Amino acid sequence: METVVSGIRSTGKLHLGNYYGAIQNFIKMQHEYNCYFFIADLHSLTTHPTPSDLHGNVKQVLVEYLAAGIDPEQATIYIQSDVPEVAELYLYLNMNAYLGELERATSFKDKVRANPDNVNAGLLTYPVLMAADIIIHKATKVPVGKDQEQHLEMARTFGNRFNRLYDNEYFPEPYAFSYGDKLVKIPGLDGKGKMGKSEGEGNAIYLSDSPEVIRKKVMKAVTDGGPTTENQQKPDEIQNLFDLMKVVSTDDTYNHFNNLYNTMQIRYGDLKKQLAEDMVLATAPIREKISDIANDSEYLSRVARLGADKARESARKTVSEVREIIGFRSF
Ligand code: TRP
Repeated sequence: METVVSGIRSTGKLHLGNYYGAIQNFIKMQHEYNCYFFIADLHSLTTHPTPSDLHGNVKQVLVEYLAAGIDPEQATIYIQSDVPEVAELYLYLNMNAYLGELERATSFKDKVRANPDNVNAGLLTYPVLMAADIIIHKATKVPVGKDQEQHLEMARTFGNRFNRLYDNEYFPEPYAFSYGDKLVKIPGLDGKGKMGKSEGEGNAIYLSDSPEVIRKKVMKAVTDGGPTTENQQKPDEIQNLFDLMKVVSTDDTYNHFNNLYNTMQIRYGDLKKQLAEDMVLATAPIREKISDIANDSEYLSRVARLGADKARESARKTVSEVREIIGFRSF
C-alpha cells in the first residue's frame, strides 16, 4: 500500500471550503492508503507564537480534524513535535541543502518580502523540514495543491541527493497528487473567489462559527440589484450564493430560489436567510462534536499518544537506517 503524508498548518480553523474539499478527500484516502496526517507545529515556530497560542492552535486543529471525521484508528494523525526523529532527519538533510537553492524558493522570497525583519534560518530551511516530514515515512504521495509543488520538487531533490551521496536507493520520490474527483467549488461570501481565510474577515464560514456568527456573515454577503430579464446569467456574487446553496440545502430549496431568480421575483434577503439556516444545520453535528472533543482531554491525549506511537515507529526505523547509512555505527 502506498504511503501518503500530509502536513496541516497548525494555524487556521477549518472553514466550509476545507470541509467539503480537502477533508472529504482525507476521509476517503484514509481507507485506501497508509496515511500520515500531522499538525506542523515545528514549522509554525518560524513566526514565534507564544506558548499558549501554539498549544491552543494545535489543539484546535486536532479537535477539528477529528470532529470532521479523520479516524485516528485508520490514519495516523499526530503532532509533528511529538516525533523528534523528524528534527533529526532534518538536521542530516540540512547538510546537503544549499544556500542558493533555499534562497530561490518562491515561498521563502514571499516571506522575506512580507516580513523583512524576521528572516530566520528556520524560514530558509522550511522546505528541508518539509522534506523530512515526507521522506521519513518514505511517502510517495502528498495531497497538496499547486502552491506546494516547488516544495515537493525540493523534497525529491534532497532525497535523491542523499541517495546519490551514499550510493543507494533509500528514499523513494514523493509527488504531489490530487485525490479523487475534482473538488466541489466552495466560493466565499465576498462574491469574488473561493472561500479562504486570507480573503478577509467575513468571507469564510468556519466549522466552529456559532449560528449567530454564520447568520451575520451570510446576511452581509454581497448581492446586486436583482435580475433585470428572465433566465439571465447570474453575476459571480449571486452564482456564489447559489453554489453554496447547492452544497448545504436540499434540491427543493435550491430549485425554489432558482425559479424565483429566473422569474425575477427573488428577494435576496429571503435567499440569504434560508442559506444561513441551512448552513447552521449542515454544520450543527460537527460543531457539536468540536465542543465535545475539545472538552474531552482524556480522549485527546489518547489520540495524540496513539498517533505519536504509530508515527514514531515508522520514523524510528527510517532514522536508524539513515544513521547506519551515514556511518553512525555503534562500537
Ligand atoms: N507547507 C505545507 C503548507 O503550507 C505544510 C506542510 C509542512 C506539509 N510539511 C508538510 C504538507 C509535508 C505536506 C507534507 O500547507
